[in-house]
This record gives sequence, C-alpha cells and structure tokens, in this order.
Amino acid sequence: MSKDAPVAEGRIHEFTTKSGSDTIEVGRKLASLLNPPQLLILRGDLGTGKTTLVKGLAQALDAADPDEVTSPTFTLLHEYDGNRNGRPIKLFHLDVYRIEGERQLETLGLEELMTPDALVLVEWGEKFKSIKKRATGEIAIASEGGDARKITVTFTE
Ligand SMILES: Nc1ncnc2c1ncn2[C@@H]1O[C@H](COP(=O)(O)OP(=O)(O)O)[C@@H](O)[C@H]1O
Ligand SMILES: [Mg+2]
Repeated sequence: MSKDAPVAEGRIHEFTTKSGSDTIEVGRKLASLLNPPQLLILRGDLGTGKTTLVKGLAQALDAADPDEVTSPTFTLLHEYDGNRNGRPIKLFHLDVYRIEGERQLETLGLEELMTPDALVLVEWGEKFKSIKKRATGEIAIASEGGDARKITVTFTE
C-alpha cells in the first residue's frame, strides 16, 4: 500500500443513510478512503444500493456522472477513467450475480484488472472463493427498513 494511505488495516467505517442521494454522498466520501490497488466486495441484498454507492464514488473520482453509472448486471463489467490528486485511477465496477461458476468467472480476467491504479468494486463478489481471496476489503449495505441503510466498510489489508 502506498505511503500516503489514510486507511488503517482492519479499520471499520460505518455510515447510515436515509435515501439514495445520501448513499451517493457516502460513495463520494469513500473516494478519499480508497487507495489503489483495491478490490472490494460490495455485498447486500438486491436493491439495497450497491450500484448507487458506485455512482458517488465515480463522481468524486471525476470518472463519470451519477447518471452514467448503471448496473453492470448484464454487461458484467463497466470501466471508468478517473483521477485523484492528479493521479489517474481506473474504476472497475462489476456485478457477478449472473456468473455461474469459477470457470465462467475466469473469462472476465479479474486478475488482469488489478493494476496499481485500479479500484475494483464487485457486486455479489462474495459468491466466489477466488474473489474473496483477492479482496482487500468489503462494503456491506444492509436495509434497516424503508429507505434506511447501514453501510459498513471493512479493510482487511
Ligand atoms: N438509503 C438508500 N441508499 C441507496 N439506495 C436507496 C436508498 N433508499 C432508497 N434507495 C433506492 O434503492 C435503489 C437501489 O438500487 P441499486 O443501487 O441499483 O441497488 P443494488 O445495486 O444493491 O441492487 C435505488 O432505486 C435507490 O434510489
Ligand atoms: Mg447493482
């Protein structure tokens, strides 16, 4: 990890949100917590706001407007070029919900995505052992009734 890393290993960050736009705001805050290279599993039930969070992250990294960030459910992988403090960052947003097994997952070439400038966010990444093994952390979103969500960010390395 680079020497200017603001993230302590094993540190947990928690956020509570009450709307989609709140969660976009959390995504924006996350931009300053994440130092490439990172592979984060985005976990949470369907419709909890995993894709919504990436909208904020992409916006803060100057990689895409929130409207341009859509679910990669069918395309599997979306790639955005961003930057932070003048350094280029590649944002990869994946959704592996529809992927059937490790064999099919291999065709995505996840390993090749992990370049030094990469932030990789994988919705449903917890489905796969190989992704869990490579993950540097996890963002878990849990519904707390209605539009309330609890977002827990954990860095494992
Ligand atoms: N607190 C909240 N955080 C995130 N999304 C919320 C929240 N409250 C309502 N929503 C709505 O829930 C939906 C979440 O969709 P999405 O981000 O695509 O979920 P996922 O990717 O987890 O399936 C959006 O329509 C969003 O506007
Ligand atoms: Mg999604």
